[in-house]
Amino acid sequence: MEGKSIMRSFLEVDDLTVGELHRVLDLCLDSNPPKVLEGEGVALVFEKPSNRTRNSMEMAVFQLGGHPVYIRGEELGFDKRESVEDAVSTLSGYYKCIAARVFDHKTLERMAQVELCPIVNLLSDTGHPMQALADVITLVKEYGDINGKSLAFIGDGNNVFRSLAMAAGMLGAEIRFAGPSDYRLSEIDKDRLAAVDVKVNEFDFAQDAADGANIVYTDVWTSMGQESEMEERKRAFEAFTVDSNLMGSTSSDAVFLHCLPAHRGEEVTAEVIDGPKSRVWSQSENRMHAARGLLAWLLAEGQENE
Ligand code: CP
Ligand code: NVA
Repeated sequence: MEGKSIMRSFLEVDDLTVGELHRVLDLCLDSNPPKVLEGEGVALVFEKPSNRTRNSMEMAVFQLGGHPVYIRGEELGFDKRESVEDAVSTLSGYYKCIAARVFDHKTLERMAQVELCPIVNLLSDTGHPMQALADVITLVKEYGDINGKSLAFIGDGNNVFRSLAMAAGMLGAEIRFAGPSDYRLSEIDKDRLAAVDVKVNEFDFAQDAADGANIVYTDVWTSMGQESEMEERKRAFEAFTVDSNLMGSTSSDAVFLHCLPAHRGEEVTAEVIDGPKSRVWSQSENRMHAARGLLAWLLAEGQENE
């Protein structure tokens, strides 16, 4: 309906159109975007631990003129102390936006359905879109434009890969994946990627995915919440370590990315992550620039009436 106000949240990269993604990236690359949080606060709720996400969000909120408040998940006790909906209705009276890292993505969907303030996904079991924004700005800074660049993700087809495939694919990158057959994106995930014109080319062997690639990316084999599967996963992923031999088959200008935290000797060798092709420290710094740009967009232009 014309003029109807809609509350927009950022739960996954495809909550943005391609045009909006480009606009957000422009704001991420702007070190002094509008101070959209002057006199306002943002709640940062964490059901799981964090270094990069918590600190980059706190600094981004500060740089936008606002006040970040860190809240441990246990303090709110979603659906134990009170319902998700009641907790969000309360917080929305104090804060301009609520950002949350949760075990179950459905929690974020319920938070967003309250529609009292925008919700931002700081990692769930299915996605990590704030990481994906930082990843693509790292690549845009490296290459200028990633349209046509090939990105090989090696390892677990997890939350980080799903959001990254969406972001890089929406910008025109070719997405390749190599990992064990039991740890790939689901058909539902692939359909969702197809809806934004992103196709994932799957390979059984890491070497085939890395062949001539411009970007090699990996993440831990065991994500937060999967600790009981650690030994089984180590066995399943043993042929998918990113090492110098694998990097040797990439393009001469190839870069290595990892969302961090990393386990040297498992998904990546020290030689690669600490080597000349690695961009992991600019990537982690870019989390702050990505957070600032996304919030600047979501809390202003993103909320303009349809
Ligand atoms: N990459 C990332 O999200 O790191 P943290 O878990 O430390 O926030
Ligand atoms: N896939 C990892 C990413 C951590 C930033 C996890 O979910 O634990």
